Amino acid sequence: MKDSKDYQNFDRKENLKLASKVVHGALGVDPVTGSISFPIYQTATFKHSGIEKKDPYNYARCINPTREELEKTMTILEEGTRAFAVNSGMAATTLVFSLLKPGDHIIMSDDIYGGTFREVNEVLTVNGVEYDSIDLSDLDLLKKTIKKNTKMIFIETPTNPMMKVADIEKISKIGHEIGALVVVDNTFLTPYFQRPLTLGADIVVHSGTKYLAGHNDVLGGIVVVKDSQIGEKLEIQMYIYGAGLGPMDSWLMLRGLKTLALRMDKHAENAMKVANWLRKEPMVEQVYYVGFEDHKDYAVTKKQTTGFGGMISFRVDSMETVNKILANLKLVTFAESLGGVESLITHPVSRTHTEISEDKRNALGITDTLLRLSVGIEDADDIIADLKQAME
Ligand SMILES: Cc1ncc(COP(=O)(O)O)c(C=O)c1O
Repeated sequence: MKDSKDYQNFDRKENLKLASKVVHGALGVDPVTGSISFPIYQTATFKHSGIEKKDPYNYARCINPTREELEKTMTILEEGTRAFAVNSGMAATTLVFSLLKPGDHIIMSDDIYGGTFREVNEVLTVNGVEYDSIDLSDLDLLKKTIKKNTKMIFIETPTNPMMKVADIEKISKIGHEIGALVVVDNTFLTPYFQRPLTLGADIVVHSGTKYLAGHNDVLGGIVVVKDSQIGEKLEIQMYIYGAGLGPMDSWLMLRGLKTLALRMDKHAENAMKVANWLRKEPMVEQVYYVGFEDHKDYAVTKKQTTGFGGMISFRVDSMETVNKILANLKLVTFAESLGGVESLITHPVSRTHTEISEDKRNALGITDTLLRLSVGIEDADDIIADLKQAME
C-alpha cells in the first residue's frame, strides 16, 4: 500500500490550460522507459524489496501504476486532492455512498440517472438510509426537505433526461451549513465545461464510460474528492471493495481523455445546431437543452459552466413518431449510453429509467414520447439529415 501522503506529492500542472492538461496527464511520459504512451502495467502483484521496506506498489487491487496515472490525471482536471478509478459509474456512486451509515438521510435530484435512483431506493434504504428525491433547481424546496440527519446532497446537473440545472455553489453553501457532503455527478459536462469542486462541492463522480473515455469502448467510473480525509476513508473502502479499474481500461480512459477538449467542443457545437433544428420540426413538441436562452435555468448554466455539452432530450407528438424515428435512423444509433463520438438515441421510459414508477416518471415529464439524444462528433448536417429522413 502506498502512503496516502505520497499521493499529494505530484505536479498538478497548475500553469496549464485544461486542453493541455488532458494531453499531458499527471506523469504523462513513463519515467522508467520514456514511453510517450503511458504503459499498461498488466500485473496483479509486485515484488517486495525487503521485509523492512515499504514499497510504493504491492498488490493491484490496492494500486496499479496505470490506474494511478488516470487517478492523478482526474485529480488535476477536477482540481481535487485525490481520485479513484473504478470499474463503472455505478461503482463510483457506490463508493461514495459507502460514506453513509444507517440513520442518515440523503437528498438527491428527482430525475437522476435511473441506476443511481435504484441503488438509493433498493439498497441504501435496506441499510437504514432515508432519502428524498426532489427538484434541486428549487432551493426553497431543498431547504424545506433538509432534516436533522441529512448527511449528503447528491446533485446531477444537468439532469438525465430532463436537463434541469442545479446551482452547485448555492447548494454547497446550504449543504455545508448543516454539515452535509455535497456530491455532483459531472458525467454530462465533464471538467472541461464544469468543475464542481471549485464551485464548493465536496465530491465529484463520473460515469467515465461516457465523455471521459469518449469512444463507447470501455466501462469505468471516477470519484474525485476535495478533502484529503475523505480521500483516506475512500481509500480504505477501495481496498475492501476491490472495484479498481483494470490497467487496460485505465489506459483506454487515459487515451480518451487526451482528446476531451476537442471532442467536447465538437459535441457542444453540434448539439446547438441539432437542438435549434429540432425546435422547428412540426413533429417535435418540446426540446430540452441547457443551451437555449429561454431555458428556465439558463442564468445558472452561464454562471457555473463554460459550455452546454452534447445532450438533448425532445418530446414528439406520438408513439407512432417515436417508433418511426427509432426504426428509420441510419447514422444515429438506437442504443443506451451517451458521450461517445457516435451519436446515440435512447427512449428513457423503456431503457434508462425503467426503475422509476410510471406515476413519478409522468410527473417528471419522462413520458412515452420522450427521446434522449447524445449528439456525437459527426458532421452536424449529417446528423440533422438523418433525423429529418427518419421523421418523414
Ligand atoms: C449521469 C450518469 N451517471 C452514472 C451512470 C452510471 O454509469 P455506468 O453505466 O458507467 O455504471 C450513468 C449511466 O448511464 C449516467 O448517465
